[in-house]
Amino acid sequence: MYDYLVLGSGVAGLRAALELAKHGTVGIVTKSVLGEGSTEYAQGGVAVVLSDDDDIFLHYEDTINAGDGLCDKDAVLTLVEEGPKYIRELIAYGAKFDMHGEHFDFTREAAHSVNRIIHASGDATGHEIVRTLKDTVNKTKNIDKIENHFVVDLIVKNNRVHGIYAIDELTNAPALFHSKAVILATGGAGRIFKRTTNPEVSTGDGMAIAFRAKAVLKDMEFYQFHPTGLHLKNAPAFLLSESMRGEGGILRNIKGERFCHNYHPMAELAPRDIVSRSIFFEMMKTDAEHVYIDLTHLGHDFVKNRFPKIYSTCLSYGIDITKELVPVSPAAHYYMGGVETDLWGRTNIENLFACGETACTGVHGANRLASNSLLEGVVFGGRSAKAAIIDTKNISIEMVEPEVNEKIDFKDLEASYSEVQDLLWKNASIVRDKGSLTKVVEYLSSFLSSLENKIPETRRCGELKNILTVSMMLSLSALKREGSKGAHYRSDFPEKINESWHIVFKNGKFDPIIEG
Ligand code: SIN
Repeated sequence: MYDYLVLGSGVAGLRAALELAKHGTVGIVTKSVLGEGSTEYAQGGVAVVLSDDDDIFLHYEDTINAGDGLCDKDAVLTLVEEGPKYIRELIAYGAKFDMHGEHFDFTREAAHSVNRIIHASGDATGHEIVRTLKDTVNKTKNIDKIENHFVVDLIVKNNRVHGIYAIDELTNAPALFHSKAVILATGGAGRIFKRTTNPEVSTGDGMAIAFRAKAVLKDMEFYQFHPTGLHLKNAPAFLLSESMRGEGGILRNIKGERFCHNYHPMAELAPRDIVSRSIFFEMMKTDAEHVYIDLTHLGHDFVKNRFPKIYSTCLSYGIDITKELVPVSPAAHYYMGGVETDLWGRTNIENLFACGETACTGVHGANRLASNSLLEGVVFGGRSAKAAIIDTKNISIEMVEPEVNEKIDFKDLEASYSEVQDLLWKNASIVRDKGSLTKVVEYLSSFLSSLENKIPETRRCGELKNILTVSMMLSLSALKREGSKGAHYRSDFPEKINESWHIVFKNGKFDPIIEG
């Protein structure tokens, strides 16, 4: 029993826990070990207005423009205005960002009008943020780490959350935790796709359990594909940071020709969705499975020092990025959609909050501006915790029991897992159409109906149920949106839709509703 439960331990969850611990006991629940998740692997940096040459309004405008008409303007304003304060606080906790003399070493990334990205150890920004927050959590009273616990479902009664039902992965025994409030900060869902930059833990758990608890989910058709994942046989789609293009890296097709300027005047630094699609179309045009990123003109020492992690990782796969072209292609990277929240992380379920990639605060709209996600995590992690403290001030913990359901019995678990990822990648990723999406929906419908009201007995089984659930929301909303906007591109409706409506899921039903 804890006053507050935080599910997930990336930037949003850890920041939320630090705030909550000032007011009560906190349990941080993670299915892995503390800090494992997308934040840890984030390379590029944090977009934040800390330079005299920058302006809050410019950051606001760049975010709105990237979001392609679907951002919530108040949420964006909150992000850009409060961002500098939260980053200064991280620095006070001990985070060390790269400096150029007395100033931050600001870099540029796609669709930013000025250099405003701060970074740490070159390309290890996420690691530095997780390290700092973990160290601070470890020194803070009132926080328990509940590692190796997979959350199956929320305990909800009369639209109020009372805790969680989990599986202790070391014993596979059920474990119940009750609390006054629950903060969902479980990250994204890149593992619904075969090709992704996300770590193995990114299986959309928070989104799926929120859906089953009847929370509202929004903008689920908007999934961002990063233009440059390493493309090698037998290697994961390791991220080659956008800041490589910000520092002058060039994309070349298989014939060695530069091509991005043929698709957008900002060429390699066009918004991320446009660069990913340009690569996709260039690959089709040249009948190739990848393009190249070329850094060879930037200088051996500069590349090695500025991107030490990428340099050493690629070298371990036999590629010297200072001397050779690096094969790359797009990979699933970030979910703009998620659990709908207000500006304080509140969901439609009483005392249930969401923040970070799990949430849809509205800051990203239809396409996220590069390096806005770590900032979103820290700002809305903090704000969700502040709201949870206020909202639950006068309530006590109720020991509500979860519903007990029949257990799922999966046959060929791993084969099903790969089949879903493959299906999604081929039919519901960078370019989609009615036929491909219908095929996915039909497959997922029959699979999901066989699992209705059944609960998993192991983490892996639960993860499969969650990727099916999130994939279904993605495919149904992508099918419903007959037009192209931001990261959602329909080849049968390539024209851009200018209206600003959203698609939501309510009451735990796979029934996409147009709103707004
Ligand atoms: C990158 O380093 O390219 C990733 C940054 C981001 O996803 O915002």
